[in-house]
Amino acid sequence: MKKILVINGPNLNMLGVREPEIYGKGTYSDLLKFIEGEAEILNTEVSFFQSNHEGDIVDEIQNVYQVYDGIVINPAAYTHTSVAIADALKAVGLPAVEVHLSDVSKREDFRQISYVRPACIGTVMGKGFEGYIEAIKMLLEIE
Ligand code: DQA
Repeated sequence: MKKILVINGPNLNMLGVREPEIYGKGTYSDLLKFIEGEAEILNTEVSFFQSNHEGDIVDEIQNVYQVYDGIVINPAAYTHTSVAIADALKAVGLPAVEVHLSDVSKREDFRQISYVRPACIGTVMGKGFEGYIEAIKMLLEIE
């Protein structure tokens, strides 16, 4: 059974409350339950990590070296700023997929840069909670 770590960055713990017109009404705990249920169907083990702190996300990525088979990451605002998270993903060399609930390609200019994208095998955006499942499926397709 493949083991996948799902990392969520800053403010995603505020899902449901935070700009629901953009991110939806589901809470962070709804998101985890949804992913857990779908992962079970896909016969995949999932673990979760959420932090509002860049360095903690870097530490977590380093910690999972040789523990997981892949990473699903929504780096949230750090997508557009963090060379450190991109470098950490490259350092551990695990396959990773970038996820965004919203379609960042249709939003502000400052969201058009993703530092993590070159460190990922794919990106899923604008599909809400479902995007995380698509990302898991991308990781399961790799041998
Ligand atoms: C986000 C998009 C980012 O631009 C934003 O800073 C977020 C969430 C998304 O899931 O759509 O916090 O990653």
